[in-house]
Amino acid sequence: MTEAIRKAVIPVAGMGTRFLPATKTTPKEMLPVVDRPAIEYVVEEAVSAGLTDVLMVTGRTKRTLEDHFDRVPELEAALEAKGDDARLALVRRATELAQVHFVRQGEARGLGHAVLCAKGHVGDEPFAVLLGDDLIDERDPLLQRMVAVQAQHGGSVVALLEVPRDQVGLYGCAELAQDDATAGQEDVVRLAGMVEKPDPADAPSNLAIIGRYVLSPAVFEVLERTPPGRGGEIQLTDALQTLAGTSPEQGGGVRGVVFRGRRYDTGDKLDYLKAVVRLASGREDLGPGLREWLAEWVASGFDTEAPTHAPVRR
Ligand code: G1P
Repeated sequence: MTEAIRKAVIPVAGMGTRFLPATKTTPKEMLPVVDRPAIEYVVEEAVSAGLTDVLMVTGRTKRTLEDHFDRVPELEAALEAKGDDARLALVRRATELAQVHFVRQGEARGLGHAVLCAKGHVGDEPFAVLLGDDLIDERDPLLQRMVAVQAQHGGSVVALLEVPRDQVGLYGCAELAQDDATAGQEDVVRLAGMVEKPDPADAPSNLAIIGRYVLSPAVFEVLERTPPGRGGEIQLTDALQTLAGTSPEQGGGVRGVVFRGRRYDTGDKLDYLKAVVRLASGREDLGPGLREWLAEWVASGFDTEAPTHAPVRR
């Protein structure tokens, strides 16, 4: 039950339709958040939580993702020859972070199916799933906390976020149960069940499941017999609903960690822009210049007519 978790699974086969046309030929996971592809933040998060084995469940149009986590000898040699150590480190970072493996999903049959594609690689140990659209600020470690909760209670752990009730239909939604085992841990709850993208009027709570999971390997067997659910897809939420009602001896039990930190949905255009601005504003190299410009820009009343080469009108 307290086996250390080593493996992270990142499903990356999605088509990225929310971000068209940028994602017509570029995987959404490769869109830069400031100056790094979104996927690099996600892998770094896994590594920070102690997971050094990463499996990406990928698809046909995702070749550049594999390239990003591979070496580029020509580029590295050129930077080395110039003595540009800083950029060399940036180029090598992705290849040195973790051991990254790939498996192809073949057909888009849903998140549950993507996770099932990881069965052979993961084997019989608990593992994490990270969804690339959700970017969790590294200053608010969520996965680490979930790994600790799983080590203490066993079973599976999902990440929960309180959202306005009218938005709960965009997510898996948690139904809470009484839990004596987590008394005193005010960020941990036990789930009686969960439902994928409910009508807000029927939603059991306003706690949304966000894209971080620590799962018992028992989920694989459940996924194998989970029929297509919402949208005709095999839903991870439906398999977890089954596990919530299964005994701990059989790998069941689902808990949730309620996250109160900074999370950006980089698959959504507006949230993506907010993430870029917030993260760049906090950077030592870009922050001062960006913040100064932003203050002027806001003071101008967002004057989109002013020429960019002139001082902004006040
Ligand atoms: C998936 C899951 C959903 C979860 C969401 C988190 O949905 O099916 O339960 O709440 O991720 O981002 P998707 O966003 O892929 O439609």
